[in-house]
Amino acid sequence: MSMNWTRRSAITLAMLSTILLSGTAYAANEKIEPRNETFEQAHPDQYQSWKATSESKELEDALKGDPNMVIMWAGYGFAKDYNKARGHFYTIEDIRNTLRTGGPTDAKTGPMVMACWSCKSPDVGRFIEENGEDAYFSGKWAKGGAEVVNAIGCSDCHDTRSKEFKNGEPALILSKPYVKRAMDTIGKPFEKQSRLDQQAQVCAQCHVEYYFTGPTKAVKFPWDKGTSVDEMEQYYDEIGFKDWTHSVSKTPMLKAQHPGYETWREGIHGKNNVTCIDCHMPKVTNADGKVFTDHKVGNPFDRFEDTCASCHTQSKEMLQDVVQTRKSQVLEMKLLAEKQIMAAHFEAGAAWKAGATQAEMDDIQLDIRHAQWRWDYAIASHGIHMHAPEVALRILGTAVDRASDARTKLIRLLAKKGITDPIQIPDISTKEAAQKALGMDMDKMNAEKQEFLKTIVPQWEAEAKKREATY
Ligand code: HEC
Ligand code: HEC
Ligand code: HEC
Ligand code: HEC
Repeated sequence: MSMNWTRRSAITLAMLSTILLSGTAYAANEKIEPRNETFEQAHPDQYQSWKATSESKELEDALKGDPNMVIMWAGYGFAKDYNKARGHFYTIEDIRNTLRTGGPTDAKTGPMVMACWSCKSPDVGRFIEENGEDAYFSGKWAKGGAEVVNAIGCSDCHDTRSKEFKNGEPALILSKPYVKRAMDTIGKPFEKQSRLDQQAQVCAQCHVEYYFTGPTKAVKFPWDKGTSVDEMEQYYDEIGFKDWTHSVSKTPMLKAQHPGYETWREGIHGKNNVTCIDCHMPKVTNADGKVFTDHKVGNPFDRFEDTCASCHTQSKEMLQDVVQTRKSQVLEMKLLAEKQIMAAHFEAGAAWKAGATQAEMDDIQLDIRHAQWRWDYAIASHGIHMHAPEVALRILGTAVDRASDARTKLIRLLAKKGITDPIQIPDISTKEAAQKALGMDMDKMNAEKQEFLKTIVPQWEAEAKKREATY
């Protein structure tokens, strides 16, 4: 790749004067400000561009696009509803609307835990600072409805109380204690990081793999052994963790979240310390000629001149074509892996019906668990076809391998139980058909959700408004 580093270093030098580490110059009783609109006047360019993440409003139903995933996640919330990511502006709306959070009728009902709010809002850091982590994490998701109301924003990434921030300097922070602990675990304490590392790490507060643990089901990153797919798999196996039990194969499963930071690190840009910010939040110039950071986190190709072209001399068409090709290659491997893993789930289901014992199934279930964890790790790292396509292809290759190990063993086991005909897979050609095949009552879930949106959410909003009026 032909490179043009001068522009980037020029900007970096120009900005260098603004990167003094932030001190704590604010009064001890000054609380974290979660309301993004309160920063509009002081930082109009950053605020307006942040607000423009609302332009990415399209909701794309991922299950409709690929009904196999309903089967992959059978027995788990993602089989109900799963949309592709859209603008940061919509985090609160989207978490309230998804069927995964169900239709709570009060603070104690509903399927999800408080931890689900964690990557949605600066109110999370605020609440933890005011009340502590245990008070935040304990209880059901609906407990936090009136507290967590502002979409991802300024206080998620900045020490908005600091003098530096008020002066228009970045003052980047990690706003949640569990993220700080995770960075310490991998030997990268935030305060000791270079500016570029810190830039990537503000995104790594959320675009990472994590799980819920302990009595309060608190967020933890499974990084004790490292951040690769193999190291996290080993970690989860050793602590015997499962996210859920698959309803067809009865396998103790892992759900990967979105290890985007981990996979970016392994890709060519990560290795060269080209960070999330270089592509998703470039430096741009306002009408008065002042350089600022564009806060409209979205698709870097929409601003090609300020992103890719600040380092690469190739045309937009050429680079887009490269990325598109990689995207289809990753998609092809994803579907191949799904085909094998899905078949393994159904064959394992048939083996149980034919009287298989847990001892006979142990090895097979471990293969299925590993295969699907690998498939999920690769595909849930949104943008991986751009960030680290070779990593995605290797991991998906290992997923196919583990699934075929499971199927080889299953064929033998089924034969032992007298079943030699191929196991039939039900009609799963659409999202609706797949959900029906699993016996899911979607009408009931949708009705509960509508009732919740009509009755509970307005109460949350009224309560939040009252509280915020006292700030
Ligand atoms: C997802 C993280 C994130 C969020 C949310 C965020 N910022 Fe930033 N902000 C950054 C990063 C990264 C930089 C650039 C840091 C650097 O140059 O090292 C930055 C830079 C800044 C700067 C320094 C001047 C500049 O433009 O480079 C200001 C001021 C600022 N942001 C204000 C805001 C305001 C106001 C909001 C809320 C409306 C906000 N930020 C939300 C990550 C964020
Ligand atoms: C506080 C958690 C959090 C932080 C910090 C965060 N994100 Fe996100 N990001 C999310 C969530 C949640 C979504 C999905 C929002 C939705 O669909 O409602 C998302 C969506 C996105 C999208 C999709 C946007 C679109 O329009 O389709 C991109 C790209 C992205 N994030 C990149 C970044 C980058 C780069 C950073 C660091 C500068 C960052 N994010 C920081 C949580 C976070
Ligand atoms: C070298 C440039 C580059 C870097 C560095 C980079 N990204 Fe991206 N990212 C992209 C591009 C380009 C896309 C869109 C690919 C496409 O059009 O298919 C993307 C896509 C994404 C998406 C998916 C958006 C969606 O709607 O599906 C997320 C999330 C994301 N990036 C987050 C991050 C995070 C977090 C980091 C840092 C850990 C990062 N990116 C680093 C270029 C980059
Ligand atoms: C801050 C500089 C920088 C930015 C911005 C940047 N890149 Fe790169 N890119 C690099 C570096 C460094 C390499 C590694 C080059 C090498 O070793 O030859 C690279 C390599 C690549 C490669 C070839 C490596 C491979 O995977 O085969 C592609 C393709 C690429 N970049 C696409 C993009 C796209 C698309 C964007 C914008 C979304 C982008 N880059 C933004 C610095 C950058």
